[in-house]
Amino acid sequence: MPVERTLSIIKPDATRRNITGAIVARFEEAGLRVVAQRRTQLTLAKAQQFYAVHKERAFFDDLCSFMTSGPVVVQVLEGEDAIAKNREVMGATNPANADEGTIRHDFGESVEANSVHGSDAPETAAEEIAFFFAGTEIVG
Ligand code: CMP
Repeated sequence: MPVERTLSIIKPDATRRNITGAIVARFEEAGLRVVAQRRTQLTLAKAQQFYAVHKERAFFDDLCSFMTSGPVVVQVLEGEDAIAKNREVMGATNPANADEGTIRHDFGESVEANSVHGSDAPETAAEEIAFFFAGTEIVG
């Protein structure tokens, strides 16, 4: 299996509840390594740019407002099959549909406040990683 990198965001609902360590533990238990990490406050412009693919969706404004409601932790996760593995560990977007034992099932509050974001494909992973990190900040 190829070693991949994927972009992960621990969202404001999780930083607010001080459960970032519990979430990182889930990634590490699944064999993913944190090779870059920064806690940051997104501006509205940055959130809108990051989620631009969703700009026509009814939830776009609420999503951007939520993502700027508190700090986030942006991370690069590395490991074998990291993109799919991260999505497996996160669970379905809506915590109500997520399998038991997944991050969103165990920690998510709603489809919006679902604790984590993860890239969905190799192309988006590369774009999303470059959106937040310079190559020199990623140390595997
Ligand atoms: P994320 O993986 O960060 O990508 C887009 C986000 O939009 C998604 O997780 C959800 O948190 C959020 N969102 C809010 N409402 C909806 C919705 N109705 N359908 C899908 N995603 C939604």
